[in-house]
Amino acid sequence: MKGIILAGGLGTRLYPCTRVTNKHLLPVYNKPMIYYPLEALIKLGITDLMIVTGGHYAGDFLKLLGNGKEFGLKHLNYTFQEREGGIAEALSLCEHFVGEDSMVVILGDNIFEKTLVRAYQKFLNKGAKGALICLKEVEDAQRFGVAEFDGNNKLLRIIEKPTTPPTNFAVTGAYMYDKTVFHYIKKCKPSERGELEITDVNNFYIQDGLMDYHIIDGWWSDAGTFDSLLRASTLVQQTGANND
Ligand code: G1P
Repeated sequence: MKGIILAGGLGTRLYPCTRVTNKHLLPVYNKPMIYYPLEALIKLGITDLMIVTGGHYAGDFLKLLGNGKEFGLKHLNYTFQEREGGIAEALSLCEHFVGEDSMVVILGDNIFEKTLVRAYQKFLNKGAKGALICLKEVEDAQRFGVAEFDGNNKLLRIIEKPTTPPTNFAVTGAYMYDKTVFHYIKKCKPSERGELEITDVNNFYIQDGLMDYHIIDGWWSDAGTFDSLLRASTLVQQTGANND
């Protein structure tokens, strides 16, 4: 199993802070943001890890993390996204790294109170084939990808940042995929914001009947805006993150 952290982008929603560093290196309570997804993957027992970064301060990741010794790792892989092409494009850079394997992908600005062990177990139980997304009920669903279900709780589709969300179930930034993901990414076309959207990739899996979902326990927060960054810091201060 491979682990991938997507930590590119210019972090424009956090200007001026991100004029001098990468968003994922800003502090969330007492640690740099990227520590949380890194710990989340390590807690699943995944040690074959790739960090996809980009922007002007990519070298700072190496200064901070090196080979991951602080996390008990012997080695860390890094790759560089040359333009702001979106989450799916960032993931496409990992095709060679993943090879025939499957993968757990976490967005570098996503923080979870609890480990993702139960979701991961569900994915392993289906042979780590197809895909699995982690959902969480939230109050501001219009900020995220949102899940729509039929009357039998079957996942119908995901809608990216809908003005009127069909449910309050947000798609969190923890995704589990088999290598078919790279085939789907090649079918994606740039969205209105000019990016290859991970939501389009997830909808391909749903259409082909290969997508499962898990509703996670505990709080979840992104940290890519000033409000969510503050919220994430406060929650981490209160409970810690990646708890068993
Ligand atoms: C991205 C995804 C969205 C998901 C969110 C989770 O949004 O596009 O579907 O719900 O991450 O943090 P973005 O942060 O790119 O706006």
